[in-house]
Amino acid sequence: MDDLKSLEADLMGRIDAAADERALEDIRVAALGKKGTISERMKTLGKMTPDERKEAGPILNSLRDRVATAISAQKAILEHAAMEARLAAEAVDVTLPVASLPRGRIHPVSQVFAEVEAIFAEMGFSTREGPDIEDDFHNFTALNFPVGHPAREMHDTFFFDEKDDGSRMVLRTHTSPVQIRTMMNEKPPIRIIAPGRTFRCDSDQTHTPMFHQVEGLVIDRDTHMGHLKGTLEAFVKAFFEIDELTTRFRPHFFPFTEPSAEMDVGYERDGGTIKIGTGEKWMEILGCGMVHPNVIRNCGLDPDEYQGFAFGMGIDRLAMLKYGIPDLRDFFAADSRWLQHYGF
Ligand code: PHE
Repeated sequence: MDDLKSLEADLMGRIDAAADERALEDIRVAALGKKGTISERMKTLGKMTPDERKEAGPILNSLRDRVATAISAQKAILEHAAMEARLAAEAVDVTLPVASLPRGRIHPVSQVFAEVEAIFAEMGFSTREGPDIEDDFHNFTALNFPVGHPAREMHDTFFFDEKDDGSRMVLRTHTSPVQIRTMMNEKPPIRIIAPGRTFRCDSDQTHTPMFHQVEGLVIDRDTHMGHLKGTLEAFVKAFFEIDELTTRFRPHFFPFTEPSAEMDVGYERDGGTIKIGTGEKWMEILGCGMVHPNVIRNCGLDPDEYQGFAFGMGIDRLAMLKYGIPDLRDFFAADSRWLQHYGF
């Protein structure tokens, strides 16, 4: 019995002194593990006579329980202390001035996307998105580009490798495929814009292989060209924050609209900066038109019942014009000094 008393005293002393959870676990294994000192003694119970066992059993059981309880009490204390230490080490002083931390900026493209979405949201447009990797049907065929039509060549398309069935996916050359996805999945009236990335194999001062567009689409029973002009003029005034605006709709060709137009806005040069609004000169800012009846039909709608307009504009160019950014390629150079200067 003395032997057990000193064993207990020794274990309790070591449990109390355990400095961390690892040391405590070592003590637990040495005492209560399979070959631990207490476990070994429990094994001797089997060889005792029933009378001896009656006496020794409860003593050993209660010893084992006291040691286990002491270990879990010490464990709770150590866990608490470890958490306190970690909280102290990871403390953040929220009263430090922000200027001492590195600061990010909103890229002008993100800023302009947000501005465009907000302006059209006020006019009742909601936002849709489509995939960057498109199939031929959505990017071309459904948009009334027949196979072999020269308008396909105009798009400098990035093609993926041929699939087993001979078809090739493309990086979408414009956001117009979102028109198709929306008309096929939703019932008119439709009033949406579709912002996103677009891709063409083209690179110089004013073209980058990846650029950004916002598409617009309105489909209803008696939407006409007047709605198109009114909507776009209201947008340009809101975007450039001007009251006076002269516009010109120049006839153009897109396979998916008829009639089609490019919209020009008046501008003048004021020193080195461009002022959009009135002025003597014309600046082209977007393509638009009335949705072609073939496109409406390709989406399963009846062109005798529904009609509407669509437009598409380059976001990078709008950002350059509004914020006086001279070179398009800098948008994608990831130069932090440029972002510090032009970011928001
Ligand atoms: N998708 C055309 C382009 O990328 C723009 C456009 C969209 C024109 C919608 C008319 C209607 O050039």
